[in-house]
Amino acid sequence: MCGIIGYTGPRQAVPILLDGLRKLEYRGYDSAGVAVHTTRATGTTDSGERPVLDVVRCKGKIAALADQLGQTPLPGHCGVGHTRWATHGRPSELNAHPHRVGRVAVVHNGIIENHAELRSQLVAAGRAFASETDTEVIAHLIERELEREPDLLRAVLRVVPLLHGTWGLAVVHDGEPDAIVAARHSSPLLLALGGPGLGEDSPGPENFVASDVAAVLAYTRHVIDLEDGDVARVTPTSHEIVDASGRAVQRPRRRVDWSPQAAEKQGFRHFMLKEIHEQARAIHQTMLGNGLLADDARMGGLQLELGERSRIIMLACGTSWHAALTGRYLIESLARIPVEVDIASEFRYRDPIVRPGDIALAISQSGETADTLAALKEAGQRGARTLAICNVQGASLSRVAEQTLYTHAGPEISVASTKAFTTQLTLMTMLAIHLGRRTGTLAPERAARLIEGLQSLPLYVDNLLAQSAAIKIIARRYMGARDCLFLGRGLCYPVALEGALKLKEISYIHAEGHASGEMKHGPIALVDEQMPVVVIALRGPGYSKVLSNLEEVRARGGKIIALATMGDQALGDLADDIILVPDIAEELQPILASVPLQLLAYHFADLKGTDVDQPRNLAKSVTVE
Ligand code: G6P
Repeated sequence: MCGIIGYTGPRQAVPILLDGLRKLEYRGYDSAGVAVHTTRATGTTDSGERPVLDVVRCKGKIAALADQLGQTPLPGHCGVGHTRWATHGRPSELNAHPHRVGRVAVVHNGIIENHAELRSQLVAAGRAFASETDTEVIAHLIERELEREPDLLRAVLRVVPLLHGTWGLAVVHDGEPDAIVAARHSSPLLLALGGPGLGEDSPGPENFVASDVAAVLAYTRHVIDLEDGDVARVTPTSHEIVDASGRAVQRPRRRVDWSPQAAEKQGFRHFMLKEIHEQARAIHQTMLGNGLLADDARMGGLQLELGERSRIIMLACGTSWHAALTGRYLIESLARIPVEVDIASEFRYRDPIVRPGDIALAISQSGETADTLAALKEAGQRGARTLAICNVQGASLSRVAEQTLYTHAGPEISVASTKAFTTQLTLMTMLAIHLGRRTGTLAPERAARLIEGLQSLPLYVDNLLAQSAAIKIIARRYMGARDCLFLGRGLCYPVALEGALKLKEISYIHAEGHASGEMKHGPIALVDEQMPVVVIALRGPGYSKVLSNLEEVRARGGKIIALATMGDQALGDLADDIILVPDIAEELQPILASVPLQLLAYHFADLKGTDVDQPRNLAKSVTVE
């Protein structure tokens, strides 16, 4: 969703702001803008004149903003930029951020819940509004405060207690032309420290503000995550942070281990394709980062109190929810611990039962999904111990959870999740093995075999990727399809759900995933000669049942694309197209089966010419309810 970047230093601000905004494009947005302390109107600062705050915004893509900035250059060394995903007010130039009121300009991620009330008060006091947004009230309040309190940081500090809701804010004011003031409350925001010795090719002292580390990786990897309630100020040579009470505080500085290239396409046509191809390495990193030794799954010091009555409640949204569903099968089967899985937005509003001894496990690639964060908080408040599985270090979820396990998949830019999913599945399998050993329900030989299987995954994933061209031929054959069914059983049922989600997200083809056994209870009514049915028919306990389902589809003229275990001859006569998957332990099949389904969705979408990395209406990280 929305993105923030701010820069102050010796370089021209606009190219850095545009570059940062491009790196945030993946989050989804519909308008963009920048505010810069510019010397355009007044000549240079060398002449002794003060820069003036100038704003350029537009509806649509960053490319349109860059064009506009080509026509209206904003020379200057300090500014803020924003990508907006519309919530209050339609996408338009007037509603785009930054919002300038007098000498102040504000960019904002999040939602101000009491904006209507604040707006009425401000209107009653004679202030006029230019936009329909909730954000504009913040700009007015800061502007008003500055009449009494000329220090921008102190003015912002006095305004934030008036706000209800969530915010990541970056504010500039022409009384302090080299400063950016940032404030955070339940919406991620960080300071990034550049300059000689810290930044890449830094020409001099410089600092940044960003809502996502991807925006600044090209310049520095040294960041400070703000905490809720913090208000901070950066200038080229300094940074200061105060907490909600105004007391100066130090927050830990961390070095990001993602390389700047990790957020680039590196020759791939789309980020999604690149991320699909990164999976072998990402899975390896997940295992390495969580201490998978030759015969162990130690889970990097994880401490969970398990008792007779222990139960795990998994909470997630979207693709991460599918990983949770697979996790339930794995943990219940290997560790015999009961697991409930809930969609985070449902859990938080259904007065859930949480008992002593329950462990709430939230799963989220970004660690910023509003519903997942709220659901884990809710579970914690009701007495559960809290654990998170997350891909982004320093994410909000890791602050809510008592313990966090990281997938170490590297940045995932494409909106459609791929490597985050397969690494979540990998980590979930490791967790199930770990718990199975602790509860004594997993025999050492079986654990050793599974760990061996996990270690062979990167090789097998590469083998599957080599089938990309063949999968593209299949996609081309069915390109005209308007609907598609995905069927799976047991551990591969969630993979069928994920296969369908991937296809609909990026190709806009209507797709449904079902448990194979449910086909007869409704979905079979849809099957006709036009309908491709993707069936995950890997060898395992449910194999013979899936074969029967295939017969049923075939009898109704449906076109069958089957995922079959290498060496399986039986499917040849039943399926129209076959994708072969390496033979592996049943527990690991979901990871391998996911890869060809990702490629299938990708090729469908690419052949149709959709915006693969930023599909319409979707956002990478859903930070609003
Ligand atoms: C959005 C994304 C999905 C993602 C879901 C949950 O809908 O488009 O790809 O699965 O959010 O995101 P999370 O970061 O919590 O895993």
